[in-house]
This record gives sequence, structure tokens and C-alpha cells, in this order.
Amino acid sequence: MSAPTGGPGGQLPPGVNPKIIFADLPKIPALATSHGTIMGLVFVVILPLGSFLIRASNSKKSVWAHVAFQLVGWILMFGGLATGIKMAKILDRLHNNAHTILGTVVIAALILQPIFGFLHHRRFKATQQRTIWSHIHVWYGRVLILLGIVNGGLGLHLSRGTPAYSKAGTIAYSVLAGVVGLALVGLMVWVERSRRRTLVENGGEKAAVPATAQA
Ligand code: HEM
Ligand code: HEM
Repeated sequence: MSAPTGGPGGQLPPGVNPKIIFADLPKIPALATSHGTIMGLVFVVILPLGSFLIRASNSKKSVWAHVAFQLVGWILMFGGLATGIKMAKILDRLHNNAHTILGTVVIAALILQPIFGFLHHRRFKATQQRTIWSHIHVWYGRVLILLGIVNGGLGLHLSRGTPAYSKAGTIAYSVLAGVVGLALVGLMVWVERSRRRTLVENGGEKAAVPATAQA
């Protein structure tokens, strides 16, 4: 890694941040493309698809497809985090702006999500009812995926005016992120409405839990 100052002879024009690692700046476009692509894929494609899959059918296959998608997305997310931190260090943007702060919070919070999924699964097997872990897993996951989608927009805003910025990429992300975000909210409303209807008709949490939750 190079020294944090890097203008020729160490002299920088006034107003230029001396903490930027100038010698590593040429690495930014490739890092930004890889970071943006991985994070976009994880938060706008893989994690939302995994959330839809759990509701796609009442078979156990749905649950295992959910687990597989979410775990692949979860692992990829750490690759995106690594490239994000590397870039943020070069650009002196580590935790001094909304994008890197919110991104770190979302990723740190998601570390626990597979554990909540597993706890839901274990408690459901024992009680045949939704427990506090089911509600935590479902709502925690929904909120964090939506925050991750919003944070991608903040990342694109952060990269505006840099060589890594692409207007076409920003438009594509915004359209896809908007559609997927709305679809996730729609799924949420549909699942909660059906659950409440079943609760009223049959009485009790047990009857209201979709079979997919029983894996
Ligand atoms: C990072 C990993 C994971 C994420 C981000 C995640 C996310 C989610 C989300 C958002 C939902 C709710 C979908 C909706 O109706 O809106 C959900 C439901 C569910 N998840 Fe996960 N999940 C993950 C891992 C797991 C794991 C490891 C398991 C099982 C061992 C699991 C089992 C379930 C089950 C059974 C449900 C349905 C619960 C119910 O309807 O009561 N998930 N998950
Ligand atoms: C929810 C998690 C995150 C998502 C969805 C996300 C997504 C993005 C996207 C789409 C871009 C634009 C890339 C481009 O212009 O090609 C970006 C830029 C950036 N991200 Fe993230 N990111 C996340 C978390 C993080 C974290 C945790 C860090 C560092 C701690 C980080 C650091 C950066 C930096 C420094 C840029 C600006 C690069 C530049 O100026 O060209 N990101 N991010």
C-alpha cells in the first residue's frame, strides 16, 4: 500500500484531501465496477429472489431454495464489503458519508440473519408455531434488504463525477431497484394480509403459518 500523500514531490494543490492514496487511484474504476456489480446483484437480485422463493410453493424445496439463495447472497456480500472498504480507504471515504456508514450497518446486521433463520427453523420444528424468532427473521430480513437497495443508490450518488460513474448504470440500477423494492413491499403486504385472514378464519398462529415456514 502506498503512502497517503502522493502528489509529485508530495505537494498538493490547496483544497485537495491529503489522505487520498493517489498512487492507488487507477485501481478505483475496476474496484467500483466489481463492488457495484456484486452489491447490486446481492441486494437487488439474489436476496429478493430468495425472499420470493420461500413464498413460491408450500413444498420444502421452496425453503431449501430460499436457504441456498440467501446463503450465496450472504457470502457474496462479504466480497462486496472487501472491495468497498479497499476503495473507501483509497478515497478517504471510510465511514465519513451516508453510503459507507449505512452499508456497514446493513452488512453487520445481516451477519446475524442466518442464525435467526436457523433459530426459527429449530423452534418451529419443536412447537409447530411461529415464535419470536420467526417474526425477527422475517421482519429483520425485509427491512435490511430494502435498506441495502436504498444504499446502492447512495453508492451511485457517491461515485458521481468520478471515472467509475456510469449514467446508464445508474438508470438501470434505479429502474431495477425501484421495481424490485416495490415488489418486495407488495410481497410483504400480501403475506401479512393472507396470514391475518387465515388467523381470523381458523384461529391461532399455528394455522396461519404457511407450510413453507415449517421446514
Ligand atoms: C442471509 C440469509 C437470509 C436472509 C437475508 C433471509 C431473508 C428472509 C426474508 C426477507 C424472509 C421473509 C420473506 C417475506 O415474506 O417477505 C424470510 C423468511 C423465511 N426464512 Fe429466511 N433468510 C435467510 C436465511 C435463512 C435460513 C438460513 C433459514 C433456515 C434455516 C431461513 C428460513 C426461512 C423461513 C422458514 C422463512 C419463512 C418464515 C415464516 O413464514 O414464518 N432463512 N427469510
Ligand atoms: C448494502 C451495501 C452496499 C451496496 C448495495 C453498495 C453499492 C454500491 C454501488 C452500486 C456503488 C456505485 C459503484 C459505481 O459507480 O460503479 C457503490 C460505490 C461505493 N461504495 Fe458501496 N455498497 C454497499 C456497501 C459499501 C460499504 C460497506 C463500503 C465501505 C465501507 C462501500 C464503499 C463504497 C465506495 C467508497 C463507493 C464509491 C466509489 C467511487 O467513488 O467511485 N460500499 N456502492
